[in-house]
Amino acid sequence: MTLELTSTVTLSNGVEMPVLGFGTYKAAEGPEVEYAVRTALEVGYRHVDTASMYENEEGVGRALHRSGVAREEVFVATKVWNDEQGEEHTLAALEGSLRRLGLDHIDLYLVHWPLPHLMASTWRGMERALDSGKARAIGVCNFLQPALDQLAAVAEVGPMVDQIEHHPRLVQSGLRAALRERGIVLEAWAPVMRGAVCEIAELVEIGDRHGKTAAQVALRWVLQCGGVAIPKSVTAARIQENADIFDFELSPAEIATIDALDLGEEGRIGKHPDVFVRPWTDGRS
Ligand SMILES: NC(=O)c1ccc[n+]([C@@H]2O[C@H](COP(=O)([O-])OP(=O)(O)OC[C@H]3O[C@@H](n4cnc5c(N)ncnc54)[C@H](OP(=O)(O)O)[C@@H]3O)[C@@H](O)[C@H]2O)c1
Repeated sequence: MTLELTSTVTLSNGVEMPVLGFGTYKAAEGPEVEYAVRTALEVGYRHVDTASMYENEEGVGRALHRSGVAREEVFVATKVWNDEQGEEHTLAALEGSLRRLGLDHIDLYLVHWPLPHLMASTWRGMERALDSGKARAIGVCNFLQPALDQLAAVAEVGPMVDQIEHHPRLVQSGLRAALRERGIVLEAWAPVMRGAVCEIAELVEIGDRHGKTAAQVALRWVLQCGGVAIPKSVTAARIQENADIFDFELSPAEIATIDALDLGEEGRIGKHPDVFVRPWTDGRS
């Protein structure tokens, strides 16, 4: 499988999305996120993931503008937060994100979490964002199969991406297969398990065979399985390390070994979507 830092996956509407992106959750607004995004762009990342909830869109925007990299060369994604959902609110939230980022369009707009009672109206807002050209592609995050079914029943245009927690301890192979069948790209959040992949002996061992770290093995696994990965780091050496995954290839046996590290729900780092969205579903924000 020939993959490069500039390799892309083609979304269902034809938009090209770089397979390696740069995560920014918990990269603090101001010098920290600016430095991290600038460094990532210098290393060669061409995909940046943020969200209104991260409260760092202004810093991400400043880094993009000051980098000297042309706007059309960078794929920028952001998300509508739970208390911004609903058709008109979603469109207003997008305007806010664009203003903070200093952009006139986003490459991918994502629903951050599935709120069942607002799903139809939020998605109408997403489709209008797509129609207007202010979002070149639209998708969801944290949608498991029931939420994807609920969305499919009301959507005129289906989601192009599902950004989910996905790493060797939470493989969700059923969901992975379902996304492939539905033509939705799997985008992995927490792909290095917030650093914990370094403690998984099997990943260290596979890495030793290739002269790579456990984190690099975990990222390469996502990509070789057809997904997109968005590791976050504010540390220059790690930003570089996470991009140095294009000069080795995992064998089918190694992929199977990594798939078998799955712990199911016990491996989940974040909250299960059903639990996470409960306060908003109950009408509180
Ligand atoms: N849609 C959603 O609900 C959702 C949820 C969570 C995350 N996300 C997105 O996905 C991105 C990635 O997820 P994440 O940030 O939660 O987790 P992650 O990328 O798996 O882990 C980031 C953490 O791991 C450390 N790290 C990074 N590379 C490393 C390496 N090579 N070796 C050891 N440690 C390393 C970082 O430390 P330093 O920064 O200190 O270097 C940071 O603390 C986020 O930044 C965000 O953009 C989306």
